[in-house]
Amino acid sequence: MTNNKAYISLLCRMTVVQKALIGIPLLWMLKRIFFPYLWKDLRFFLRAAGYARRIEQAVKRNNCFSMLDMFLKQVSTRPNHTFILYQDQSYTYKEIDLKSNQAAWALRHYAKLKTGDGVAIFLGNEPAYIWLWLGLAKLGCPMACMNYNIRSKSFLHCFKCCKAKVLIAAPELKAAVEEILPALMEDGVLVFYLSRDSPTEGVSSLLDKVEAASEAPIPEFYRSSSTVKTPALYIYTSGTTGLPKAAVINQGRLLISSSISTLAGVSCNDVLYIPLPLYHSAGLMIGVRGCIQQGATCVLRNKFSASQFWDDCRKYNVTAFQYIGEILRYLCNTPKKDNDKDHCVRLAVGNGLRQDVWKEFINRFGNIHLYEFYAATEGNSFFFNYTRKEGAIGRYNILMLRLRPFDVIKYDVEKDEPVRDAAGHCIRVARGETGLLISEITTTNPFTGYAGDESQTEKKRLRNVFKKGDIYFNTGDLIMVDKQGFVFFQDRIGDTFRWKGENVATTEVADIVGMTDFIDEANVYGVPVPYHEGRIGMVSIKLKPGESFDGDKLYKKVTDYLPNYARPRFVRIQDAIEVTGTYKQRKVELVKEGFDPLTIKDPLYFLDETSKQYKPMDSHIYKAILEKKLKL
Ligand SMILES: *[C@@H]1O[C@H](CO)[C@@H](O)[C@H](O)[C@H]1NC(C)=O
Ligand SMILES: *[C@@H]1O[C@H](CO)[C@@H](O)[C@H](O)[C@H]1NC(C)=O
Repeated sequence: MTNNKAYISLLCRMTVVQKALIGIPLLWMLKRIFFPYLWKDLRFFLRAAGYARRIEQAVKRNNCFSMLDMFLKQVSTRPNHTFILYQDQSYTYKEIDLKSNQAAWALRHYAKLKTGDGVAIFLGNEPAYIWLWLGLAKLGCPMACMNYNIRSKSFLHCFKCCKAKVLIAAPELKAAVEEILPALMEDGVLVFYLSRDSPTEGVSSLLDKVEAASEAPIPEFYRSSSTVKTPALYIYTSGTTGLPKAAVINQGRLLISSSISTLAGVSCNDVLYIPLPLYHSAGLMIGVRGCIQQGATCVLRNKFSASQFWDDCRKYNVTAFQYIGEILRYLCNTPKKDNDKDHCVRLAVGNGLRQDVWKEFINRFGNIHLYEFYAATEGNSFFFNYTRKEGAIGRYNILMLRLRPFDVIKYDVEKDEPVRDAAGHCIRVARGETGLLISEITTTNPFTGYAGDESQTEKKRLRNVFKKGDIYFNTGDLIMVDKQGFVFFQDRIGDTFRWKGENVATTEVADIVGMTDFIDEANVYGVPVPYHEGRIGMVSIKLKPGESFDGDKLYKKVTDYLPNYARPRFVRIQDAIEVTGTYKQRKVELVKEGFDPLTIKDPLYFLDETSKQYKPMDSHIYKAILEKKLKL
C-alpha cells in the first residue's frame, strides 16, 4: 500500500500530460486491484485542482480580481441573459448591473459611504439583496448579512461586532429595528428602510433614492485598493459562548466559494432555485455566487414552501436547486401527486441528507443527482460526495488531502476537548473510529476568523496538535473515515446543535431562559427526534428556592427573545444541574435520556404552540410525536 501512496503522490506532482502518458496504463492495473474508486477520485481531483488553478491565475493576472469582476464579465458576455427570477419579476444581468450602480450612487451620496465602510443588511430573500450586495462591492464596502430572525440583544450584538456604519432593513422588520434604534442612534449609525417612505423617526427611506440615482458605472478606483484579503462579507454563525459570531469572508474566500456549484456541474443554462436564506453562506456564497460564476439564472424565494416547491420548479423551468436535509424530508412528507415527476430538475446541491430520505426522494421525484457536500462558513476544509456512495459526504485520500489537508483526532465528548497523550499531543483515530475533524491552518489554507472577537477566533484554533507550534482549525464536527476512505458525518460537538437547518447555540438559549425570574440555572441541549433531521431544543432547569414553574411566563420569555427554531420544546426540572470536573454543564446523559415521560422521573413540560404555553408533558404528547401526528 505504501508504494501505491508514493505512486499517487508522485502522480500529483506531474503535469496532466505526463499523467496521461505514463500514469494511465499502470493506474488501470493498480486500480483494479487496490482502488475501485480511483477513476472517480482522480477525475474529481483534476476538476477541483483545475478550478483552483483557474482562480489562482485570474488573481495573479489582476491582484484585486474579485467576485464583482466575475459578475461584470457575465454582464458583458451575456447582458440579456436572465439573472434573477422572483415572484413574477425577472431581471437580466444588465438590469441588475444598472440597479447596483444606482444603489451604489445613492448610498455614496446619502450614507456618505467610503471604501471599507461596513453596511449591514436586514432583509429577506429578494432581488434587492443582490443588487445592494453588488452595489456595495462596487464601492469597496463589505456587507454584513444579518439573520432576520434575530431581535434585541442578539441583533445589536451582531450589528456591533462587524462595526457597520449603516443598517438597511426591510420595512416589514420595522418593529425589530425600532427596538434597537435608540442604541444605534447613540452610536451614530445611519438607518434606512428599503422603501419609498419611512414611518419611523430617525430612519430614512432608500428605495426612492436608489430609483432617482444615476445608472452610470461606478469608477474602479473606489475598490481598487482591495486584495484577496480584504473583507467582502460578514456571515453569522452560532457562537460557543452565547451570542452569534461574525465570520469574516474575504474576497479570496468569496471567489473560491463557487467551487461547489462548479464541481456539481452547474452551467450557464441552468436555473438554480434557492429556497435557503441568503444570510447563510449556502444561499449567498454557494447559490448566488455560484450562479454568477457560471452566468446562470437564480430563482429567489422568500421562504421555503413544501407545497409550492414543484409548482415553482415548473413555473421557472428550474434545473437545479439547493437543499438542506430538512427540505428533502418535507418534500417527501407532502401528499403524493400524479405530476411528481413532471419537472426538469436534474441536480441538487446541499447537505444533511439522510439515506432513507434519499431513496424515497429519488423514487418519488425521479433521478435527480444529489450532490452532498460538507463545508463550514468559516472553515478551511470541505468534502464533496462525488462517488455517489450512500451516506458518505466525501472521500479521504491523498488527492483530497492535497486539495484540503485535514486530520481526524480522538475527542473526549464528556470533557468536550481533544484527547492528548503524555507528551501533550493529539492522537489520530484509527479507520472506522469517530473523531474530531481538524484542518491545518496555512497560508494556502487560511482561517480568517471572526470580526471583533479575537477570543472567539482563538477558540477555534487548536495549537500544538502534532508538534509544537502547529495550528489547526477545529471544525467542531465529528466524522468517521471508513476502511475504503469514505467520509461520514457523525455529529456536532460542544455547545451547538442544528434544528430546522439553523445552528442553535445552547449558551445563548440558556442565557435567555436563565433570565426568567423563577429559574435559578438552565442547561440547554438538543435531543434527537424520530423522522427529523438534527436535534430539537430541550432545557433542564433548576428552580429558585421556594419558586414554582410558570409555563406562561417561560413561554413569553422564549417567544419574545428567541427565534422559533431556537426555543426549547421540552423542559425538564431537576433539583441540581450537574457539572463536570471542569465546571461545564453535563449534557451527554441528558441527551441520551431524551424526553420520554415514562422513563424520566423529573417533571417534564412541552412547549405547546396552539395553547401558547409550556404544559405538562404526558404519554399522549410523547406518542403523538413518535407517530408523526404532532408537528414539531
Ligand atoms: C419555461 O419554458 C417554456 C418552454 O420552453 C417557456 O415557454 C417559458 O417561457 C419558460 N419559463 C421561464 C420562466 O423561463
Ligand atoms: C451521496 O450521493 C449518493 C448518490 O447520489 C447518495 O446515495 C448518497 O446518499 C449521498 N450521500 C449523502 C450523505 O447524501
